[in-house]
Amino acid sequence: MSFLTLTHIQKSFGPVRVVHDFNMSIEKGEFVSFLGPSGCGKTTVLRMIAGFETPSGGAITIDGRDQNTLRPNQRNIGMVFQAYALFPNMNVFDNVAFGLKIAGKPKAEIEARVREMLGLIKLDHLADRFPYQMSGGQQQRVALARALAPKPQVLLLDEPLSALDAKIRVSLREEIRAIQRQLGITTVFVTHDQEEALSISDRIVVMNQGKADQIGTPFEIYNKPTTKFAANFVGTLSTLDATVADPAANTATVGDATVTLPEALGPARAGDRITLALRPEALALDASATRNIALSGTVDSVNFLGSVIRTRIDIDGQSLSFDTFNNPSLPPPMPGQTIKAYFSPSDLLLLRD
Ligand SMILES: Nc1ncnc2c1ncn2[C@@H]1O[C@H](COP(=O)(O)OP(=O)(O)OP(=O)(O)O)[C@@H](O)[C@H]1O
Ligand SMILES: [Mg+2]
Repeated sequence: MSFLTLTHIQKSFGPVRVVHDFNMSIEKGEFVSFLGPSGCGKTTVLRMIAGFETPSGGAITIDGRDQNTLRPNQRNIGMVFQAYALFPNMNVFDNVAFGLKIAGKPKAEIEARVREMLGLIKLDHLADRFPYQMSGGQQQRVALARALAPKPQVLLLDEPLSALDAKIRVSLREEIRAIQRQLGITTVFVTHDQEEALSISDRIVVMNQGKADQIGTPFEIYNKPTTKFAANFVGTLSTLDATVADPAANTATVGDATVTLPEALGPARAGDRITLALRPEALALDASATRNIALSGTVDSVNFLGSVIRTRIDIDGQSLSFDTFNNPSLPPPMPGQTIKAYFSPSDLLLLRD
C-alpha cells in the first residue's frame, strides 16, 4: 500500500461539488505536485489531507492509518501556506519551536531541534528576528522550518512561492526540493505554475474541475499528455485539424500530407475529424531524415525571446507556433514571408477531450 492514499475523495460546499472522485496514491518520500487553474480544488484537497475540511465522501490514509477520524492536531502533518503565516509576535526561534512546545517536548530537545532546523534553512543567524524584520523568502523558509520541526509524516505546501519575486521563487523551490530529498519526507506541493511543477516534482497531478485529469512524471505529462486539458495547460502547444485517412493503418491527413500517427486512433472511421498537436520545439525550418513532413504557411509574428525565437505561422487559418534557437548570423523570418516548417510524425500528439 502506498504511504499516502486518497480514494474516491469528494467535497461539496452546500449544493456545489468542488472535488469529484479524486484518487491518488503517493509513495513514501515522493514529491508530488497538484497543478491546475485557480478554483480547480487544489487547496480543498490539501485541506482535507490536513484535516481542516472533512471529505463528503472517500478515504484518506497515511501509512495505512485512516485519517478521517483524526482531528488536524492528531494528524502528523506539516503545512506551509501561500501567505506568510508566521506568528507576528514571536521571533524566528519561537515560531519554529511552536509545534514542539505544543507537543510538550523537553526544553533541551526543543532547543536542539530548532537549531537543527535553522541550520537546514541556513538562517541560524536570524533566530532572534521577528517576521516583520525579514524578507518574504526568509519568512517562507522559517515557515518551512516550523512545519518540519515536529517531524511530520507528510509535508503539504500550498503555493508557498507565489508571493515571491521570480528569482527568489526559483532559488527557493530548489532549496525546498533539496531539503525534501535530504529528509526523504513525503510532500504534496500545490501550484498553478507549470514550470515550477515540471522542474521539481517526481510526479504531477494535473487537476481540472475537482478531478485528477492526468497523473504522471513531468516527462510523461509534457511529452504524452492524454487529454486536451493537460496538453493545453502544461506548456505551449499548436493544434492542427486533421482527418482520419485509414483507421486500420493509423493514418491521418494533415494539410497535403498523409502521416502515420504515433499512437493508436482507437475506434475511428475514415473521414473523422481529429485534433493533433505539436509542441513548439517539434517544428524546424529545415528538414531532416525524420523531420520530413512540411507545412507551408505565412509568417504572422516573430517574437525574439533571446536564446529562442518564437515564430507564429498561419496555415489555411490554423495558427502554428514554433521555436528556433537564436543564430546571430542568420536573420529570423519576417512577418508576411511564406515559409515551410518541418515536423516528424512521431512528435504528433493526438488530443482527446
Ligand atoms: N469554504 C468554502 N465554502 C464554499 N466554497 C468553497 C470553500 N472553499 C473553497 N470553495 C470553492 O471550492 C472551489 C475550489 O477552491 P480551492 O480553493 O480548492 O481552489 P484552488 O485550486 O486552490 O484555487 P487557487 O489556485 O485559486 O488557490 C472554488 O470554486 C471555491 O470557491
Ligand atoms: Mg488554492
